[in-house]
Amino acid sequence: MACMQLLLLLCLLVSLCNCYRMFGRFSRIPPEPQSDSAVQDQWFEQKLDHFRGADTRVWKQRFYVNDSFTHSDGPVFLMIGGEGSANPAWMTHGTWITFAEKMGALCLLLEHRFYGKSHPTKDLSVDNLRYLSSRQALADLAHFQTVMTEKLGLGKRKWIVFGGSYPGCLAAWYRLKFPHLAHAAVASSAPVQAKLNFSEYLDVVQSSLARNDSDCPNKFKVASATLIQLLNFVENYEKITSDFRLCQPLEINTKMDRAFFLDTIAEYIMDVVQYNNDNREFEGVKTTNITIQVVCGIMANESWGSPYDRYVEVIRTILKATGEKCIEASYKKYVEEMRSSCWEGPAASGGRQWMYQTCTEFGYFQSSDSSSQPFSGFPLSYHVQQCTDIYGNEFNLAMITGAIQQTVENYGGLNIESSRIVFPNGLIDPWHALGINTSLGTDIVAIPMQDAAHCADMYPARPEEPFVLPAVRKLVYELLTKWLQL
Ligand SMILES: *[C@@H]1O[C@H](CO)[C@@H](O)[C@H](O)[C@H]1NC(C)=O
Ligand SMILES: *[C@@H]1O[C@H](CO)[C@@H](O)[C@H](O)[C@H]1NC(C)=O
Ligand SMILES: *[C@@H]1O[C@H](CO)[C@@H](O)[C@H](O)[C@H]1NC(C)=O
Ligand SMILES: *[C@@H]1O[C@H](CO)[C@@H](O)[C@H](O)[C@H]1NC(C)=O
Ligand SMILES: *[C@@H]1O[C@H](CO)[C@@H](O)[C@H](O)[C@H]1NC(C)=O
Ligand SMILES: *[C@@H]1O[C@H](CO)[C@@H](O)[C@H](O)[C@H]1NC(C)=O
Repeated sequence: MACMQLLLLLCLLVSLCNCYRMFGRFSRIPPEPQSDSAVQDQWFEQKLDHFRGADTRVWKQRFYVNDSFTHSDGPVFLMIGGEGSANPAWMTHGTWITFAEKMGALCLLLEHRFYGKSHPTKDLSVDNLRYLSSRQALADLAHFQTVMTEKLGLGKRKWIVFGGSYPGCLAAWYRLKFPHLAHAAVASSAPVQAKLNFSEYLDVVQSSLARNDSDCPNKFKVASATLIQLLNFVENYEKITSDFRLCQPLEINTKMDRAFFLDTIAEYIMDVVQYNNDNREFEGVKTTNITIQVVCGIMANESWGSPYDRYVEVIRTILKATGEKCIEASYKKYVEEMRSSCWEGPAASGGRQWMYQTCTEFGYFQSSDSSSQPFSGFPLSYHVQQCTDIYGNEFNLAMITGAIQQTVENYGGLNIESSRIVFPNGLIDPWHALGINTSLGTDIVAIPMQDAAHCADMYPARPEEPFVLPAVRKLVYELLTKWLQL
């Protein structure tokens, strides 16, 4: 009931300002899938708590199947869902589908608990979010595999798991923790090293921005320094509001308000780098023609005015491409949305859940604390404070630090001790800094991908893609073929 009332209120707010978006803040979350897909939702009865045998509660987890290529001698491919709705577009597109066609694989995709339509609990209260963790997610996969093997008579077939980004970690960790179930894993752009202060993210943003124009990062640095100067005087807020097309007049009362605004603007540039030239259109993404080259081209073009004015032009160009009318930059509003624990809430398609996972397992906080990067104003303390502001006082620095340590102890971080895992990592992608970029023996294989962005190897091939990708796909295919013979 409380949820319904809040929902009405939120709908009202959304329709009044008519600019609600799922971008920027939650940009690590995949886009909402198109609803016209022919792929059917299927449902699996899943346990709520895998770590307490006496707990018999169950819920329905969503999954997808593509059995067009399946052959009784072929493997089973399991794509692992991540921090957003499972997108049925993956059931007909992407590198793994081309592999499945050649290998006679049965393709399955299991949505991650607490995301999309996979709702284990009646709401997203902090109390219920205790059942949201990578460990529960891995146990979901194990139970799913065991039951489906029995139900579909797949006893003799080898399972290969796939995932990109956080699900890339899950793919590697599933092979690590359930070697009797997973025969091999393809872990694309997997940040397997949990880390509180992920300041390296922006270090890579800096070096990636420099790849075609070595002065590009410096221009961003000058522009963001000017922006910070402007923020010192309230008289400038009207100008800043209109320059960056903010949805509401800029209001800065606290350090968090200021950091949130600066982080929000910088995240547009971070996203351009992270997804540079990735072929994500089949997923319904619109930003693909705004590349590092486009933004650095604007930053180098004096006809747009000062570096600050060029930065404004860059942001406007991105907004035009995504169709966003304005930028939400109010920390107060963000926290209100993130605190909503209804399934119908504004951050419930992934923002609230993923932030919870970063606060309780991974950190990954992209602080502006490093001196070798162009932005400033969103230090580590700002990210940590968000955990407290959204989930409550016990989510403080000491708790978060301990939780991240536990994750590293559990999975081993970069020292993962396993076999038959391949780790493709795009070197433009800031996440590669927490990934495995050196092979550990002959069957933990790192594939550093020159010029490629986040999860680039997973997307459908196209002529304008980075030069390395055809060879990467071929290498992964050959590794899987070899491993399947073992
Ligand atoms: C499986 O994927 C192929 C390739 O996109 C597609 O043609 C086929 O219709 C899909 N089959 C099912 C059952 O979805
Ligand atoms: C940009 O840099 C990349 C990597 O250094 C290079 O492959 C590409 O050709 C460059 N493009 C232009 C237009 O300079
Ligand atoms: C990106 O694509 C949109 C729509 O197709 C087009 O209007 C815009 O000019 C393009 N921008 C760049 C920088 O290529
Ligand atoms: C700089 O921007 C102006 C205005 O959009 C454009 O006409 C011009 O071609 C650009 N110059 C370069 C070198 O890209
Ligand atoms: C985060 O890491 C950077 C780079 O190592 C360091 O300079 C900075 O002091 C760290 N921040 C905190 C709060 O420890
Ligand atoms: C690979 O990882 C090591 C250790 O983290 C790091 O020093 C090195 O710079 C990385 N190489 C690349 C190409 O990212």
